[in-house]
Amino acid sequence: MIENRLSTELAAIETTGLTRRRHMLESPCGRTVTVDGKNLLNFASNDYLGLAGNAEIAQAMANGALQWGAGSGASHLVSGHLAPHEALEKEITAFTGFPRALTFSTGYMANLAVTPTLAGRGDAVFADKLNHASLIDAMLLAKANGADVQRYAHNDMAALEKMLAASSAPTKIIVSDAVFSMDGDLAPLPPLFALAEQYDAWLVIDDAHGFGVLGPHGKGSLAHFNLPASPRILLMGTLGKAAGVGGAFVAGSETAIEYLLQKGRSYIFTTAQPPAIACALSKSLQLIRDGDALRANLIARIGQLRDGLAVSSLKLLPSITAIQPLIVGENEATVALSKALWERCLWVPAIRPPTVPKDTARLRISVSAAHTASDIDQLITALKELA
Ligand SMILES: Cc1ncc(COP(=O)(O)O)c(C=O)c1O
Repeated sequence: MIENRLSTELAAIETTGLTRRRHMLESPCGRTVTVDGKNLLNFASNDYLGLAGNAEIAQAMANGALQWGAGSGASHLVSGHLAPHEALEKEITAFTGFPRALTFSTGYMANLAVTPTLAGRGDAVFADKLNHASLIDAMLLAKANGADVQRYAHNDMAALEKMLAASSAPTKIIVSDAVFSMDGDLAPLPPLFALAEQYDAWLVIDDAHGFGVLGPHGKGSLAHFNLPASPRILLMGTLGKAAGVGGAFVAGSETAIEYLLQKGRSYIFTTAQPPAIACALSKSLQLIRDGDALRANLIARIGQLRDGLAVSSLKLLPSITAIQPLIVGENEATVALSKALWERCLWVPAIRPPTVPKDTARLRISVSAAHTASDIDQLITALKELA
């Protein structure tokens, strides 16, 4: 049977307790969600500003669909680039401060468009070991193109500098998450930028978890560190997390973005997002820009969680972001804790290998501006009782 090998592998995954299962939501993404008729407090989404269920954004999407139709009809370079896409690009450009931006259907596709397009035969890619899977896949594509790829220990600038100094590649590309998705910590962007300048390298930054959350007006991690919109930086931001909708952008210099438009395969060979999504994102961008009150609540809730657990045996990883991981270690213990929280109507996902390194299984607590002080208190109380 052609499926035999697959069945054997699936059975092996099951015996290690690593089978992944989906929960089906019977309500929209929000502060609370319904699963199997159970009302849960949601600490499992990336909806950091609580915009996924925002009525103004949904209305903009509905209006956009009525005006522009359901689909774009083609890829951007054929006939699928509609006025709402163009307007969104201009708004992202103004917001990020880079000269130009391109939008993509997903962050995964945006990442696939950048590194493998910049890196050819004989070039070199230097990537943080904890980078997101989409950046790893982009790196592997660059490798398939003939680039030399090297991974440095997490946030280890000395290790990165050694690699850069030893490389004679004509094009060097440093690639890093800005906020690490399973750890919540920040990449040291100022030293990364300094190394990029020193060794004449591109700096590709994935700000999936910083965009909308960090920096003035939620402009993201570069703005948080007051870094310039340098022509050597390519900034990727996703629009399905804090922005609450879906899609992504890459912002950079006029030339770099034109190059991606001409050569980025995951930009060229795919249907453009429905224009109504761009309409929704224009509204979302406005709410992000004007969202200081949302960010203030998010920061307050993060502080409350960290203060509340500080005196317990439960240790959160150091993180100023909405991602607050609680390392448990063993897979089974992590799943058991997540299940016990679920029984108390608190949804906090267990993250296990291979998503995170072996023996570092964790609860990934995701805080949102939609949470109230009493929501966070409930979580603190439950964690302390279950620990
Ligand atoms: C750091 C990071 N980069 C990229 C992505 C991919 O973005 P998207 O979900 O829009 O494909 C994600 C998460 O999904 C992420 O956490």
